[in-house]
Amino acid sequence: IILDGKSYPMPVFEGTENEKAIDINKLRDQTGYVTLDSGYKNTGATKSAITFLDGEEGILRYRGYPIEQLAEKSSFLEVAYLLIYGTLPTEAELKDFSGQITKHTLVHEDVRKIFDGFPSAAHPMAILSSLICALTAFYPESVSPDLSKEEIDLNVIRLMAKLPTIAAWTYKNQMGHPLNYPRNDMDYASNFLHMMFSFPTEKYELNPVVVSALNKLLILHADHEQNCSTSTVRLVGSANASLYGSVSAGINALWGPLHGGANQEVVEMLEAIERDGGDTSKFIAKAKDKNDSFRLMGFGHRVYKNFDPRATIIKKAADEVLSALGLQDSPLLKIAKELEQAALTDEYFVQRKLYPNVDFYSGIIYKALGIPTEMFTVMFALGRLPGWIAQWKEMRENKEPIGRPRQIYVGEKERNYVPI
Ligand code: MLT
Repeated sequence: IILDGKSYPMPVFEGTENEKAIDINKLRDQTGYVTLDSGYKNTGATKSAITFLDGEEGILRYRGYPIEQLAEKSSFLEVAYLLIYGTLPTEAELKDFSGQITKHTLVHEDVRKIFDGFPSAAHPMAILSSLICALTAFYPESVSPDLSKEEIDLNVIRLMAKLPTIAAWTYKNQMGHPLNYPRNDMDYASNFLHMMFSFPTEKYELNPVVVSALNKLLILHADHEQNCSTSTVRLVGSANASLYGSVSAGINALWGPLHGGANQEVVEMLEAIERDGGDTSKFIAKAKDKNDSFRLMGFGHRVYKNFDPRATIIKKAADEVLSALGLQDSPLLKIAKELEQAALTDEYFVQRKLYPNVDFYSGIIYKALGIPTEMFTVMFALGRLPGWIAQWKEMRENKEPIGRPRQIYVGEKERNYVPI
């Protein structure tokens, strides 16, 4: 490699993608000249000790723990603690963490006044991002660039506690239903379900299979290293913006259909196939036809090259939830299973490595729980919250410089100004 007239040996890269990236980082650190910019649209490069992802092997680990073990054995709050503070909590730490969150679940009644101004047709993500940003006005000290560890912790707790409350408000607003205040005797997932679905006039029975599935869904979405919303949170936070403001920016990034909209597209596709009569073979043929614009949603993944480790876990949860709710014969599930079967056995899909991903199943579960499709990205935000917080905190603790994405100028070189 010749750079600025000096020559450097061409590095030989072996091993996984991740190891290659490390080699390139070494080379950059040694020479100070070389950076890998795999395209100037990719600007999220950063060092992080939070989530390990290997797309070739289908590996996802939070702080070194395999996602399969966490989803099977932990609660969402344990995983949140792990992501944010770096270790799994002891029993006492977990008690303290969840106790503090419980204490902060109420949202200032003046935030309600802002909320009341939203029309009932408002998209839930518009309300969520606005009210999370509005918290900055209610906790003005949160904008200080010199927060102590305790002050940062308080912001973290407040956000973990209040986001589910506000998320449930966005649903109640759409329904025109009265708001439910949080139940501090319930765990995180149960309290959220209570705020979404219970009515003051009825005894609300929580189904443990549903609670467990929600817990898993939240864990599976809790972090996914650098992606559009997470890099946004880090970038906005790198200007010393508050945690609330940075996460609000992340919520807006997630709202973009290319990022958070995949499971909504899956459910809409399944519903369209059902409306058409439910003949999946017709749609499989359409998906294979180059001249047809129909695309199978929820298949393959930009990062995972062979399979999405989250999909295996969520598929099992989908079967459990639908059986527990007596929906095992639902037409949507039947169509989904037929498409899945085709993808796993048809040479066309196998060759192209088009396997169902996490988004293929998550929408089916949300739908079964009675969560409307417009709320799917809100559910994603609820799950992704600890990841965003951990990434913001890591960036702040590392005292990272303000982000400045690289630009490659492709415009006019110089023009002569001629007045009209
Ligand atoms: C995610 O979980 O954030 C999505 O899979 C998007 C991504 O990681 O690129």
